[in-house]
Amino acid sequence: MKQKEQLEGIRAEAEAALHSIETLEELDNVRVKFLGKKGDLTAVLKTMGSLSPEERPVVGQLANKIRGEITENIEKKAMELKAAQQEARLLAETIDVTLPGSPVEIGHEHPLSLVLDEVKEIFMGMGFEIAQGPEVEWDYYNFEALNIPKDHPARDTQDTFYITDNMLLRTQTSGTQIRVMEEKKPPIRMIAPGRVYRSDAVDATHSPLFHQIEGMAIDEGITMGDLVGTLETFAKKLYGSDTRIRLRPHHFPFTEPSCEIDVSCFKCGGKGCSMCKNEGWIEILGAGMIHPQVLHNGGIDPEKYSGFAFGLGLERLVMFAYEMDDMRMLYENDMRFLEQF
Ligand code: DAH
Repeated sequence: MKQKEQLEGIRAEAEAALHSIETLEELDNVRVKFLGKKGDLTAVLKTMGSLSPEERPVVGQLANKIRGEITENIEKKAMELKAAQQEARLLAETIDVTLPGSPVEIGHEHPLSLVLDEVKEIFMGMGFEIAQGPEVEWDYYNFEALNIPKDHPARDTQDTFYITDNMLLRTQTSGTQIRVMEEKKPPIRMIAPGRVYRSDAVDATHSPLFHQIEGMAIDEGITMGDLVGTLETFAKKLYGSDTRIRLRPHHFPFTEPSCEIDVSCFKCGGKGCSMCKNEGWIEILGAGMIHPQVLHNGGIDPEKYSGFAFGLGLERLVMFAYEMDDMRMLYENDMRFLEQF
């Protein structure tokens, strides 16, 4: 009976095939080859017609037995392969919790903030409050109320972005003086730091956006002596107790008299060096006694009260403090630069 031999052959062949396969795909090919409609087992069964009636059930039984065996073996193999696959995946996806993590970059306080905080600290220690004014400002507060009418030449150096004819990006923090006067009764002692804007091209010492700190004190009997004492104390606290200040006459429309204040060079102590361009002095701010008209504009009686005001550029202070020669570095947000402070 050649069918019997053929069936035994299929059994052996299927066993060998199952033994050597490695993937579920290969397993499916084996199933199709041996058990499929066009498979080897079906092919043998198709030749059963040539067998005698006694032989037929014998071959039929054997064929069923072998089909059962192969089916069972395929299922077993499938389970094995799936388990191995799962194992491999778990292994590949293992997370080693003992590995060092990737570092999270933490920001760094900006030098402008560092110096501003120091300045705030010094003035708060002298009883000054911190005030704030808007960056989008009325022409009235930025210019008009500070004795700078529409056709005043002081506007030439303070061109800015106009939102309307009467509304602009403020060019100075001085407008905050008026806003604070409107809100508070003397005695007033305040500083108002903030961003200001000017139509200036970017270079090593200019930026269309920079920072100023405005300061103001108003009370009965405030004199130039208070201005000098306050700013000298400030300079000594910021640059060291050997620091001296010097007043040079100047003009600002909203103070009378007005001055510029220099500090003795904090690098050479006044002997002259590259930092102070051999002057021995470094200009740090503008100041003066608040003009009576400005007090009046702020709703304060200039007959009863007087006051001083000053304005300083934060970028200048920072550049001197850290001996920087290019202001642009302050705005590039390069961590290699910022982390040095
Ligand atoms: N606002 C002036 C400027 O931008 C600086 C200034 C000078 C402010 C004198 C003052 C002051 O308060 O009294 O140039």
